[in-house]
Amino acid sequence: MKFFIDTANLDQIREAQTLGILDGVTTNPSLMAKEGITGETNILKHYVDICNIVDGDVSAEVIATDFEGMIREGEALAALHPQIVVKIPMVKDGVKACKYFSDKGIKTNVTLIFSAGQALLAAKAGATYMSPFIGRLDDISTDGLGLISEIRLIYDNYGFTTQILAASVRHTMHIMDCAKIGADVMTGPLSAIEGLLKHPLTDIGLAQFLADYKKGN
Ligand code: E4P
Repeated sequence: MKFFIDTANLDQIREAQTLGILDGVTTNPSLMAKEGITGETNILKHYVDICNIVDGDVSAEVIATDFEGMIREGEALAALHPQIVVKIPMVKDGVKACKYFSDKGIKTNVTLIFSAGQALLAAKAGATYMSPFIGRLDDISTDGLGLISEIRLIYDNYGFTTQILAASVRHTMHIMDCAKIGADVMTGPLSAIEGLLKHPLTDIGLAQFLADYKKGN
């Protein structure tokens, strides 16, 4: 299972990278705005900064919603750095753009997936990754993890190689549930990743070991 961090915050990306378990980064226009990164020049530079911190794939989202605009933006993004994955919204022209990029060997991440039908289309268009937003489904009383299971079943039925990138992960249990279902990738905040570290018996056990060592030394 690949671990991506879902942020445009360079300190958090560095922190996750130093843990040694990071496989990539996902961003979106909202995450960029949250870090105060605005204007095309600054945004493009920020993607390169992220690529220089991590070793793996870095999703960079197009803003255009029409085919020609997505192609223009996506080609410029892909030319920025070999680690860039062009992130495309799940709209009609997005499916066409995904097919265009996949035919050219450019990696893609089809985003804003909320149904198994959309996931099927993304796979048919040759997407490298596709991102079902599980947290946002949970927010409206719909089973986000259930969608991951449905997509896993469909992809396995036909041997689709598009990777299921469980997105909008909000907490540590989401990561564990996605791992059990067999999502290929999860993207979430640093707090959710660090939650995997925690167990009170680890803390108690370590404190005891250290106390016993001190008794004898
Ligand atoms: C993933 O690519 C998305 O940017 C992200 O996971 C959305 O998460 P949110 O629902 O917490 O905004």
